[in-house]
Amino acid sequence: VIQPLKPLIVKETELEVDDGKKKVTIFFGTQTGTAEGFAKALAEEARARYDKAAFKVIDMDDYAADDEEYEAKLKKESLAFFFLATYGDGEPTDNAARFYKWFAEGNERGEWLRHLQYGVFGLGNRQYEHFNKVAKVVDELLAEQGGKRLVPVGLGDDDQCIEDDFSAWRELVWPELDQLLQDEDGTTVSTPYTAAILEYRVVFCNPSDVPVEEKHLANGHAVIDAQHPFRSNVAIRKELHTPASDRSCTHLEFDISGSGLIYETGDHVGVYCENLSESVEKALDLIGLSPNTYFSIHTDNEDGTPLSGSSLPPPFPPCTLKTALSKYADLLSSPKKAALLALAAHASDPTEADKLRHLASPAGKDEYAQWVVASQRSLLEVMAAFPSARPPLGVFFAAVAPRLQPRFYSISSSPKMAPSRIHVTCALVYDKMPTGRYHKGVCSTWIKNSVPVSEGVNCSWAPIFVRQSNFKLPADTTVPIIMIGPGTGLAPFRGFLQERLALKEAGADLGPSLLFFGCRIHKMDYIYEDELNNFVEAGALSELIVAFSREGSIKVYVQHKMAEKASEIWNLISQGAYIYVCGDAKGMARDVHRTLHSIVQEEGSMDSSKAESLVKNLQMSGRYLRDVW
Ligand code: 2AM
Repeated sequence: VIQPLKPLIVKETELEVDDGKKKVTIFFGTQTGTAEGFAKALAEEARARYDKAAFKVIDMDDYAADDEEYEAKLKKESLAFFFLATYGDGEPTDNAARFYKWFAEGNERGEWLRHLQYGVFGLGNRQYEHFNKVAKVVDELLAEQGGKRLVPVGLGDDDQCIEDDFSAWRELVWPELDQLLQDEDGTTVSTPYTAAILEYRVVFCNPSDVPVEEKHLANGHAVIDAQHPFRSNVAIRKELHTPASDRSCTHLEFDISGSGLIYETGDHVGVYCENLSESVEKALDLIGLSPNTYFSIHTDNEDGTPLSGSSLPPPFPPCTLKTALSKYADLLSSPKKAALLALAAHASDPTEADKLRHLASPAGKDEYAQWVVASQRSLLEVMAAFPSARPPLGVFFAAVAPRLQPRFYSISSSPKMAPSRIHVTCALVYDKMPTGRYHKGVCSTWIKNSVPVSEGVNCSWAPIFVRQSNFKLPADTTVPIIMIGPGTGLAPFRGFLQERLALKEAGADLGPSLLFFGCRIHKMDYIYEDELNNFVEAGALSELIVAFSREGSIKVYVQHKMAEKASEIWNLISQGAYIYVCGDAKGMARDVHRTLHSIVQEEGSMDSSKAESLVKNLQMSGRYLRDVW
């Protein structure tokens, strides 16, 4: 275990039933804050509509310390809503993982939730194979375990407009609550509601009046996590593609010596990067305030009472506007409809305000889908198109620009080889958008341009933290492994192979191992070629199989190479092999999955459904693991 579980903060007051009011609990499993925002928005509207009920919003992790407590507490819930996001390979968010595991294993419990009425809204992306899996599973299980489903499970699709999906689902919730929360005489007391625009209280101040902005960094802190990242210097940076390549991929090493930060092979590193200075300059121009404007944001009034509209995200530390725009504002994502409404509320030109409101309205649905979503228009581009819409800072940071999120990378080293370094293998994101803008990935560009210690005293640094994963080598080193990772999907396998090499050097017996790697052209993007050959020579890797997709007239991908090695793969599976896939979820992992299925079906001479259940079994027993994005 790398880090202790998040300390338990059960806010008891949140669980109390206010006098005479019906208790409604709204749970959220969130990663980037969207599910949390929806949960809070539902609560806020519900509070405005029904004063006879008490709505509590609860982080799944904070709800209960252990499984028994989950059980004891859920038994007491009579009306609950769940907002659950699905990530990567159909996985729950970190804060819902414990609940999900416990709940999914609960089919022995019978109909113990007969007193519970519920609704589930999922957040996912239709482009992924396991679209909204977590929400679908929880919704089904709640019903199986006796709960009464009030509304069909909402399947929010981030590929389109997830806000619309949420609004549509919410409209199904109100008639149900009208029924359930009606007065004793049978009348419903639902008050009409319009969402207020979120706004922090802003205090302009002097830097000397407030604590230093880097206070939250964890250097010297006992626990390093997303809330307390470690300020890590860049020790080494190098380009992995040859100059012949028109793309770029960086090998970067974060220095974690003396930090107390530890990791395991297969874990992820979270990196808080800053916006590129060109984006920050543009934002400063659009906002029209001095970069040195020093301010703090607050979720309470001066007398300490909470601001109305309690769904504000937690504030960031006091800093200059330039710092706030660099570190905390996502400037390049497409604005949500709520952001357009916030801009509209502060547009001095009524035509612009109308246009913004139209884009956010049901009537403007198609225009929003085209002009904002399909064009991947950034917040900065939208603000530039509406020059009169200039919200104050309290609105800008609460409702217009979402928080800049940390980026996660599969760690490409093993602590057995690099105990004081975390290695990252990162492909540069640089794409032409439909509007003609060149989109530079925030973190990958930072990584590519970072200055390592070796090149200067003022080296680059970033706040980082480690996220554990279950993408791990088998405990028994003699168990065969099959690794499939084209492009930067190679990252965790470089860590695996370092680990195996260290184990071998320490005298361990190693089982057979296959690595399927794929790139475009040998002379351009065959990353870590020498290292991979060394792993073979040193006996850490039995066989290296590389697919070059752009060397001949037809594309050769890793799955084609797998098909060529079908009988060997089947043999290893029969011997208990673990299978690992890392890389792109939408195309590669799906195609590799299909290939694996056909290999099992053909080599094992079984029908398709038998093959499917065998592959499913591999997955369930932790022998088929995927680290996909
Ligand atoms: P391409 O870019 O020539 O299509 C690493 O990115 C490698 O993965 C590249 O060689 C890339 O090929 C290849 N790739 C792209 N789509 C893939 C898919 N669906 N399955 C397997 N490999 C894929």
